[in-house]
Amino acid sequence: MPIKFPFSKNKKETINRTLGLDYDHIPKHVAIIMDGNGRWAKNRGMPRIAGHKEGMGVVKKIVRHASDLGVQILTLYAFSTENWKRPKNEVDFLMKLPVDFLGTYLPELIDRNVQVQTIGDVSLLPAHTQKAIKDAIEKTSDNDGLILNFALNYGSRYEMVHAVKEIAENVEKGVISASDVTEEMFTSHLYTSKLLEPDLLIRTSGEQRLSNFLLWQLAYSEFWFTEVFWPDFDESHFEKALYDYQNRKRRYGGI
Ligand code: IPE
Ligand code: IPE
Ligand code: MG
Repeated sequence: MPIKFPFSKNKKETINRTLGLDYDHIPKHVAIIMDGNGRWAKNRGMPRIAGHKEGMGVVKKIVRHASDLGVQILTLYAFSTENWKRPKNEVDFLMKLPVDFLGTYLPELIDRNVQVQTIGDVSLLPAHTQKAIKDAIEKTSDNDGLILNFALNYGSRYEMVHAVKEIAENVEKGVISASDVTEEMFTSHLYTSKLLEPDLLIRTSGEQRLSNFLLWQLAYSEFWFTEVFWPDFDESHFEKALYDYQNRKRRYGGI
């Protein structure tokens, strides 16, 4: 029977409750490696950028659904520190996507009480990309609903080296000594310092690797893989991932 999501702000959304998701135990932080846009396009005889464009529509769908389900943080891997290796036309297109996405979708994000954040070194992105992101962060900073966290020019090794440098500088200055360094302190120097660790990591397209994503933060997260390419991913796949997550036993090294 179709039900209304209890978390929906405008109470319009309905969906068939088929899986038996436990709405009281929705993972707080879901991270997604949105992969397979290029192959999706190639399979259709289209240029890779057509896959990225299609993938942007899926981001909208999944953000809506995550927000309706009561997910607190949705971290989306949008561009890695290694993705600069791609042809210029593809990089240029990927850098324009946040501008297009936020250009059309920001009013709805504001209306949905979503907070836009980023991880990664955004200072190296083109000016128009930085401007769109800065604007979205500012306009949503007072919201307290879903945190929509885009990983842009993000690389976990880069992030950790940056953290080590900051800590080493503090030791050099005598602010702390080496023996003060703890896991908590290290965590506090990462881009994700204010966020909970991901409960669930989803990767699409059949690849089963981290590709330099959140290496430290995913230490005890549950992983969920699907063969589906990102442009074909939809709400039902997202719910299946959450359902499978709810049927896992997280032991954290205990019994
Ligand atoms: C993911 O799709 C999007 C980005 C990495 C920006 P890909 O572009 O990696 O698509 P495939 O993996 O080549 O099919
Ligand atoms: C990871 O996908 C990066 C993003 C999804 C943004 P890639 O397609 O770049 O990863 P590899 O090259 O297959 O490991
Ligand atoms: Mg890929």
